Amino acid sequence: MLTRLTVAFAFSCLSCHLFAQAQQIIIETSQSALVLTVGGNQRVLQSYLGRKLAPAAYAALTGGREVYLTAGMDNQFEPAIRLVHNDGNPSLELKYVSHKTTREHDLTQTDIVLKDPVYPVEVTLHYTAYQNSGVIKSWADILHREKKPVMLTQYASALLHFNSEEYWLTQFHGDWAREVNMVEEKLTNGIKTLESKLGTRTNFYQTQAFFLSLNGKSSETAGELIAGTLAWTGNFQYTFEVDQRNGLRVRSGINAYASEYYLAPGETFTTPAFIFTWTDQGKGQASRNLHTWARNFGVLDGKGPRLTLLNNWEATHTSFNETRLTELFDEGKKLGIDLFLLDDGWFGNAFPRNDDKAGLGDWQEDKKKLPSGLGYLVKEAEKKSIKFGIWLEPEMVNPKSELYQKHPEWILKLPNREENYGRNQLVLDLVNPQVQDFVFAVVDDMMTKNPGIAFIKWDCNRSMTNAYSPYLKEKQSHLYIAYTQGLYKVMERIRAKYPHLPIMLCAGGGGRTDYGAMKYFTEFWPSDNTDGLERIFIQWGYSYFFPSNTISAHVTSMGKLQSLKFRTDVAMMGKMGYDIRVNNFTPQELQFSQEAVKTYKRISETVWFGNLYRLISPYEESRAVLMYVSENKSKAILFNYQLHTRRKDLFGRVQLQGLDPQKKYRFREINLFPDTKSINPDNNKVLTGEYLMNIGLNLAPGRIAPLSSNIFELTEE
Ligand code: DGJ
Repeated sequence: MLTRLTVAFAFSCLSCHLFAQAQQIIIETSQSALVLTVGGNQRVLQSYLGRKLAPAAYAALTGGREVYLTAGMDNQFEPAIRLVHNDGNPSLELKYVSHKTTREHDLTQTDIVLKDPVYPVEVTLHYTAYQNSGVIKSWADILHREKKPVMLTQYASALLHFNSEEYWLTQFHGDWAREVNMVEEKLTNGIKTLESKLGTRTNFYQTQAFFLSLNGKSSETAGELIAGTLAWTGNFQYTFEVDQRNGLRVRSGINAYASEYYLAPGETFTTPAFIFTWTDQGKGQASRNLHTWARNFGVLDGKGPRLTLLNNWEATHTSFNETRLTELFDEGKKLGIDLFLLDDGWFGNAFPRNDDKAGLGDWQEDKKKLPSGLGYLVKEAEKKSIKFGIWLEPEMVNPKSELYQKHPEWILKLPNREENYGRNQLVLDLVNPQVQDFVFAVVDDMMTKNPGIAFIKWDCNRSMTNAYSPYLKEKQSHLYIAYTQGLYKVMERIRAKYPHLPIMLCAGGGGRTDYGAMKYFTEFWPSDNTDGLERIFIQWGYSYFFPSNTISAHVTSMGKLQSLKFRTDVAMMGKMGYDIRVNNFTPQELQFSQEAVKTYKRISETVWFGNLYRLISPYEESRAVLMYVSENKSKAILFNYQLHTRRKDLFGRVQLQGLDPQKKYRFREINLFPDTKSINPDNNKVLTGEYLMNIGLNLAPGRIAPLSSNIFELTEE
């Protein structure tokens, strides 16, 4: 029996297409199923999305709602596709032709071919089901054989139907230095849209992911929901349309705003993939599903190691020279980190990069600051047994640059209006293959000359305004899409030649955080706000969709009210690094940080690859508690942050999650500041998983101090 609480969508609509003994296409993971039915009129319908069931239960399903709704005929709601034929006819009907399902290891691939009976238009719907993680990836190929190009004005990656009593949407909005603010709201009739039109750095105001809870709000541990995100580094759009009968359609895809696409005969338009997971175990399970998928399939080297690093941006900005940098290498070495990352300001000669007003585009070492060149720095770092990494922003140009003077035709700008700047810069026309060659060569030449470079931070500090591609000429409506495709072409070439070079994705903070990019990148920069207190919320927000080994978290001197220990404990829940003057540390702070780096290296396996359990949300109490548990449940790391800035507070016990109730764990506080002792009453005790998960721990003994934090290690005895 299907109950309302466990079914996201099961057909029960009288006005929809009914028929007998229809053909079914079942797309299943270990946890969930999406059941499609070929209707009597050969249209493909979504009959079910919910918990995985026995085949007999699916067999009883009848009908449903059209899985890839078209425009121009009987559908009156937001379509998945709208296509205008070259005779001006704006209608499309997609009927089932065939499908095939193939299985390889953990993946089941289903491809469904649909065709218009009147026009030679073909759409193939693709679904990859990842058994183990419970994630489904869905996208479409659009192709036609008409005589002239057709115009696409909508081209969704996926359209999902829901039929619940209530819909609760959780979105993450923000701005520079205040990314991923979580807001949950009930959807009402009409259309709610989450989107970006920024062209580049498209997540600047809106993180590209959402939760949709069904039949009421979901918590971390309970409730039915989907978590979804589009793998696309350009304009995206999600529409949530609640209709007159309280049915919901969720359309996910590229934002079609100002992007009519003229598709040539024989050309295939491939939409980006929509990645989603369904669960009835709450948001925590949805995150763990996505993390497992991301580490295995979504992120470059997602199961590989990461480098701890010392960055110089907050410590020096653009003012440094060779001596200063080699001193910083010493500071990095003293700390025990793996790599020194040289940030913005190292390039430009005719227009030296001494601030953000000049130099972008001229990727040659500034001879005044770095007379001996990058090669010297790589060697000096090597001598001190640390690796060397470098900052680039290769998609951009300052008007004050030699590149601007040499190649004005390589820049996105309107031919007949004034230039419009963001951070004093313009965006290069990455649609142009010559510009793609240039951007590839920026990386390739640098790596060829300096093969010792072991890390790149790839920045992107403005979005598009007054955008016009000299290359596209009259096809300007292709710009937003073709730009992102151009970026991917460059990244493909970089990855073909440098498959494992770690590259951090950065866009003036968290302006680019999507799985379209992450298959080329090893980590991302979540925010320029590195204040420890703010970072708890920011890292918490990203943790819903990204595993911790992708979330760069640096210890800096921002957040003066917080101790170095607090800021370090916050960085340790992500991919830890530093951006601070180590020489300004007191002897105790230095000792603490050296030990912290060692501790992080020891525990990082559990933090990066373990299962995340968010126990107490900073949105609900003035504290945050989370833990990572190793796959075999023999180890766990528990993070505890007290967020009150003024006074001591009283808190209840915390029940842990994800442990083995039968196992015994030694509970031990780690990462203590020199000459301090743990005040936790259970420190060093051996406790069973059952005790820890049912009776729990007092993590605020004797009214814990404002802005204090602890890290605990649990090890099976
Ligand atoms: C923006 C980034 O988010 C910062 O970390 C830093 O790299 C600056 N750009 C450099 O201009």
